[in-house]
Amino acid sequence: RVEFGEKFLLLPGMVDIHVHMREPGLEYKEDWGSGSRAAVKGGVTMVVDMPNNVPPANNCSVLQEKLQRASARSLVDFAFYAGFNPLVEELERCRGLFVGFKLYPEDLYSPGARNVFSYASRYGLPVVVHAENPSLFRESKLHSDARPPEAEESAVKHALMLSRESNAWLHVTHLSTSGALMSVLEAKVTPGGRVTFDVTPHHCLLSDELYRGEKRGIAVVNPPLRPEGERASIYTSLRNMLPDAIVTDHAPHRIEEKTSEKPSPGFPGLETALHLLFREILEGRLGLEVLELYSRRPARLLGVKKGVLGEGFEGDVVVVSKEEWVVRGEDFESKAKYSPFEGWRLPTKTYAVYIRGEPVYIAGQFMTSKGGRLAVPRG
Ligand code: NCD
Ligand code: ZN
Ligand code: ZN
Repeated sequence: RVEFGEKFLLLPGMVDIHVHMREPGLEYKEDWGSGSRAAVKGGVTMVVDMPNNVPPANNCSVLQEKLQRASARSLVDFAFYAGFNPLVEELERCRGLFVGFKLYPEDLYSPGARNVFSYASRYGLPVVVHAENPSLFRESKLHSDARPPEAEESAVKHALMLSRESNAWLHVTHLSTSGALMSVLEAKVTPGGRVTFDVTPHHCLLSDELYRGEKRGIAVVNPPLRPEGERASIYTSLRNMLPDAIVTDHAPHRIEEKTSEKPSPGFPGLETALHLLFREILEGRLGLEVLELYSRRPARLLGVKKGVLGEGFEGDVVVVSKEEWVVRGEDFESKAKYSPFEGWRLPTKTYAVYIRGEPVYIAGQFMTSKGGRLAVPRG
């Protein structure tokens, strides 16, 4: 049982290692101000930002620019992934600026992917892979049919092969099918190489049923929400603490992009993830320890520390209150004011957030408009 005392529960700050803050280039979808306030609202004190910016963050000058932008506007601490660059050696002079590589589906199948794996292997960095094999995509009105489970299963096998070849660390992000899960779990117990993976709240809690209803555009995301059987497998892996992390894949778009003929994939997740997990915990379906996967475990996984307090996270604290609310996109801090969880009743709220001991948010008020720092690699 979870004891809230009178009303409050004190937790470590949450760490979300897969978010899209959209700077530079897509500030109309999100920026470090709105995105980091969304993080704080969700009890998240550190994020790792993805490289699919405009231009892409696959070189030192864009990573430098991202550092400047986040330092100026983020309330939460942050780190970055480097994007796919076949001339990966170009990143040598800014190695302190990224904690791993991110490969998108097309990147994984391009000849340069091998270079990235072997470079990453040299420095012990993770290659974070969005695993879907584009050659298995097909025409279908139903998003979950257009990008079927086989596409993920196939891409995970390909990525495992590349990581074994170069003895590199593969991290499969937003894993969403039982077939891919089996391959990853098998690889975990196979000597040589290293493989880790994360899952999202949406793949655990939502199924492709949403593509048949009025949330069909809002719910478009990649990998897609899956048929019920797949969802149940991913959720069961979480019940058994098998993933190495929980991530939101916070991927905001403008509402017009979501309600169009061809909806942009992704939706905001930072403001709901922790409290969705509490819904599962308080209703007895998950143990409180699941929150480790959204805090200490991902922080250790990427080996980041934040400077002033030794190991780094002692001063990052979130106070959660037992207070019911209903998810309403219009109330979000994110610029993306919609959610596939719209209308869900959640049992807890973020009451206060402290980062490195400094108050950032108390009782509905932001105490500052900046202060986030680059989380530096350990050692
Ligand atoms: C992401 C985005 O919008 O940047 N969209 C998504 O559906 N997850 C890209 C990605 O993570 O693949
Ligand atoms: Zn992705
Ligand atoms: Zn993403």
